[in-house]
Amino acid sequence: MLIIEKADKVFGTISVPGDKSISHRAVMLGAIGQGKTVIEGFLNGQDCLSTIGCFRAMGIGIELMGQKVEVEGKGLLGLKEPSDILDAGNSGTTMRLIMGILSGQNFLSLITGDQSLRQRPMARVADPLRAMGANIDGREDGRFAPLVIRGGDLKGITWKTPVASAQIKSAILLAGLYAKGSTTVIEPIISRDHTERMLSCFGISVERSGAAVTIKPGMLEAQNISVPGDISSAAFFIVAAAVKPGAHLIIKNVGLNPTRTGIIDAMRQMGADIEIDNIHQLAGEEAGDIIVRGSELHGTEILGEMVPRLIDEIPVLAVAAALAEGVTYIRGASELKVKESNRLTAIVVELQKMGVQIAELPDGLKIVGSNKLHGASINSYHDHRIAMAMAVCGLFAEGKTIIADSACIDISFPGFGELLHQIVR
Ligand code: S3P
Repeated sequence: MLIIEKADKVFGTISVPGDKSISHRAVMLGAIGQGKTVIEGFLNGQDCLSTIGCFRAMGIGIELMGQKVEVEGKGLLGLKEPSDILDAGNSGTTMRLIMGILSGQNFLSLITGDQSLRQRPMARVADPLRAMGANIDGREDGRFAPLVIRGGDLKGITWKTPVASAQIKSAILLAGLYAKGSTTVIEPIISRDHTERMLSCFGISVERSGAAVTIKPGMLEAQNISVPGDISSAAFFIVAAAVKPGAHLIIKNVGLNPTRTGIIDAMRQMGADIEIDNIHQLAGEEAGDIIVRGSELHGTEILGEMVPRLIDEIPVLAVAAALAEGVTYIRGASELKVKESNRLTAIVVELQKMGVQIAELPDGLKIVGSNKLHGASINSYHDHRIAMAMAVCGLFAEGKTIIADSACIDISFPGFGELLHQIVR
């Protein structure tokens, strides 16, 4: 349980755990690379542990020492048939990206997940993989996990996906490593590009042309990877400081990949004072320190190309909008309905409990800013980002905010509650 009370001050210098997307990919590419990949700054959270569990079950030696991980890569075809069902837990990234890798294997595998993951759409990934030659079946005509995959003998394809999704794109690109010929994915809007960047680091030829990415099959060479802090985790603290006049917060060494920095642009659009310092490169990714000074924010409109660049930050952005002056519209975000929970409905119901005027739109949210919020008993829907966004909201509400089911926070941000208490007085 997490209990939050109103904050008088927000200040300090902090670091957040490693980037979830990069941590997953480092383990996956390490496992199918040749030799030992060493990962520093790994996110030791439930989702990434699910990825480790799946590769261990396929015979890959993985040593986890806090935030350091050593992966004994066995090459593209070094995985062995798992003797039991692979478990992706709550992690969409684990399931979808591994589906791409399993599609290239000459063996049978089954993969499942928790109740939330078993309700999330998988046809968007299975369809292109089937077009490449993989046999994939699952519940409800092969659209939901548990999934059964028999891979092998893939051919390269050009796939136009209607959804901007790094998980779909990455699954196809990873299968492309095993295919005859090259594989191209075309997205409506560019989604996060960590897979492309990391594949290049591992020595694979990846070409981008606008919203199209093309990969040629090849061998991966083991790498040393240093994972920057996760901007999606930093977002909770960016908002907590930005909405509090007089606040001053420094978040060290955060990943600043331009496909992920929508939250900084959106907050600046709302009038936030955010500075970036100490920019450096880590494993093909930009990183830097984020300096936030609190101020009065105003409402804004978020839509179009910006949405995939802040897709995971919309719950906490709604909190910022609830505390700003005027109205905020978020549109083009219907993907939020099929995340770990239906995040549009969850954020509307929970923010309303705290006195926020907020409405669900067919593809987004309308939020009317106010400074008069009150604490409430919050339902997290077992969704880590709903729990954390609502905790941040609690810092600005009269009375106590109680998040009963806060254990889900460990999925992406172990230590969140302690860090939040550390920056407030
Ligand atoms: C992720 C991609 C995003 C994001 C998720 C992590 C990834 O999902 O919401 O938390 O690591 O590729 P989609 O690509 O399906 O939008």
